[in-house]
Amino acid sequence: MVRDPSFPVARNVAAKPLLRVLHGEAVWPPPIWLMRQAGRYLPEFRAMRAQADFLTRCMTPDIATELTLQPIRRYGMDGAILFSDILILPWALGQKLEFIEGRGPVLDPIRTRADLDRLDRSRVEEVTAPVRETLRRLTTELPSHTTLLGFAGSPFTVACYMVEGGGSRDFAATRTMALTETALFERLIDLLTEQTATMLVGQIDAGAEAVVLFDSWAGLLPPSQFRRWVIKPTRRIVDHIHAARPHAKIIGFPRLAGVMTAEYASRTGCDALACDTGADLAVVAASTASTLPLQGNLDPVILLAGGETLVSEARAIRDSMRGRPHIFNLGHGVMQETPPEHVAALVKAVRTLT
Ligand code: CP3
Repeated sequence: MVRDPSFPVARNVAAKPLLRVLHGEAVWPPPIWLMRQAGRYLPEFRAMRAQADFLTRCMTPDIATELTLQPIRRYGMDGAILFSDILILPWALGQKLEFIEGRGPVLDPIRTRADLDRLDRSRVEEVTAPVRETLRRLTTELPSHTTLLGFAGSPFTVACYMVEGGGSRDFAATRTMALTETALFERLIDLLTEQTATMLVGQIDAGAEAVVLFDSWAGLLPPSQFRRWVIKPTRRIVDHIHAARPHAKIIGFPRLAGVMTAEYASRTGCDALACDTGADLAVVAASTASTLPLQGNLDPVILLAGGETLVSEARAIRDSMRGRPHIFNLGHGVMQETPPEHVAALVKAVRTLT
C-alpha cells in the first residue's frame, strides 16, 4: 500500500468543525472563514506591508505565516487560508509579475507559442518551496480546531491573467485566443492543469487539509466554453488529487457561474461548492446533491455596511442552510475599506444562537 504522507493531519477531523462539514456533516452553528480574511482592512496587515513587497511577503515563510495567523488570532476563524496568491504559479513558471499599488497585478502577456514555450515547468517545485514551508509552520502554530486551507487559481482564471497581462473587465484577449488559437490556449490550460494538480498535492503534503480552487472568472464563459475550459480541467485536477490523496477535500469556487453552477458541482466532483454573492443558496441547494457541502455567500458590501442588516442577513443565510453541510463565508473577498469590528460582529452573529 502506498503511504499517504499527510495522513496524521487527516485524523484531526473530529476536532475541526470546517473539516467535519467537508466530510458531509451539518455542523450547527456552521463554521466560518472569509475569503481575503488576511488583507488591507486589518491594521496589523498594513503594518507589515512596509517591510516587504507583496511577492516577498508571499515567499517569506516568517511573514506569510504571520499574515495567515493575524485573522485567526483576532477572530478565531474556523479556517486559516494560506497567505499567497493565485499568480504565484505563473511567476514560478518564469512569467514576469509585478503587483503595482492601485493597479493590481501586471504580467508580461503570453500571446504566442514562443511566449508559452518560454515558461519552464522544471523550476516550479523549487521556486514554490517557501509556500510549503509556510504551510508546515502553520500546522504547528494553528489552534487545534482550525482547518488549514491551501489554494490555487483554476487553470482558466490563471490563464486570464497570463494572457491578458493583468486584470480586465472582460478578458477579451484571453477569450479570443480560446476561440481563434484554440490549440495554443489548450496547451496553456493543459500546462496549468498539470502544474496546479501537482502544486496542490504538494500543499496537502505540507499540511493543507483542504484546498480551494478559485475560478474567479468562470462566469465570463458561455456554456460550451465553460464545459471545455472550466469543468474539464477542474475535473482533471479533482481526479488527480482524489487519486493521490484520498482524504484531502477540494472546495470549488466557480464565481458568477449562474445556471452552470449545478453542472459544475456534479461534473467536476469537487467536495464542496463555494457560492458567489449573486447565487440564491436555496436554489443551489435544491439543484445539487443534498450531501454536497455549500459555502457562502454573504455580500461583502453587507459586511462593509455593518449594523443590524449585517446581523440579520448573516443569520438569514445561516438559518436557511440549517440541516445541510454549510460553511459560512462571503460571496467574494473582504473589501479593503471594511471596518475590522464588522468582521468581529459577523463572527459573533453566526456563532450566537438566539
Ligand atoms: O486571505 C486570503 O484570502 C489569502 C490570500 C489570497 C490573496 N489572493 C492575497 C492577496 C488569496 C486566496 C488570493 C486569491 C486571488 N488572487 C484571486 C482569486 C480570488 C478573487 O479575489 O477572485 C485572484 C483573482 C487573485 C489575483 C490578484 N491578487 C489580484 C487581482 C490582486 C490585486 C487586487 C488587490 O486587492 O490589490 C492581487 C493582490 C493580492 N492578493 C493582495 C492580497 C492580500 C493585495 C496586495 C497587497 O496587500 O499589497
